[in-house]
Amino acid sequence: MSRTLVICKPDAVERGLVGEILGRFERKGLRIAAAELRLLDAELLGRHYEEHVGKGFYDDLVAFMSRSPALVAVIEGPEDTFAVVRSMMGPTNPASAPSGTIRGDFGTITTENLVHGSDSNESAEREIAIFFPGLV
Ligand code: CMP
Repeated sequence: MSRTLVICKPDAVERGLVGEILGRFERKGLRIAAAELRLLDAELLGRHYEEHVGKGFYDDLVAFMSRSPALVAVIEGPEDTFAVVRSMMGPTNPASAPSGTIRGDFGTITTENLVHGSDSNESAEREIAIFFPGLV
C-alpha cells in the first residue's frame, strides 16, 4: 500500500472540477484515504513549497493557492501511487499535457494547472505530514 498527497487547487474548486478529478482517481482503482476543503495560508504553503521559496513565481504561486479554498486529499493505492497520480495529471504545463490527462483535458496555463501530486514516495510522506499530521 502507498499514499500520495493530491491538491485540487483553487481553480479546480472554483470551476467545479473536484468531482471530476477525484472521480478519475477512484475509477482508476485508487481510494480516498482523507479529504478536506481548506483555505491554505502562506505559512502552510511555505512549508509545502519549500523548494520554490525565493523563485520568481513564488509570490504569485502563494497568492493563487490561497485565494480561495483547495481540496486537499490523501490518495491510496497498491504501490507507487504517486506515479499513477502524476501520470493521470499530465505535465506541469497544460499546453504540453496530452488529452486524457487532467491538465490536458481541463487546463490551459502553468500558473493555474488544477492539481498537485507529490513527485516521489518521500515527498508524499513529507507532504501528507504537513497537511494531515494526525493521519495514521
Ligand atoms: P506544481 O508542480 O503543482 O507545484 C509548483 C507550482 O508552481 C507548479 O505546479 C506551477 O503551478 C507553479 N510553477 C512552476 N513553475 C512555474 C513557472 N515557471 N511560472 C509560474 N508558475 C510556475
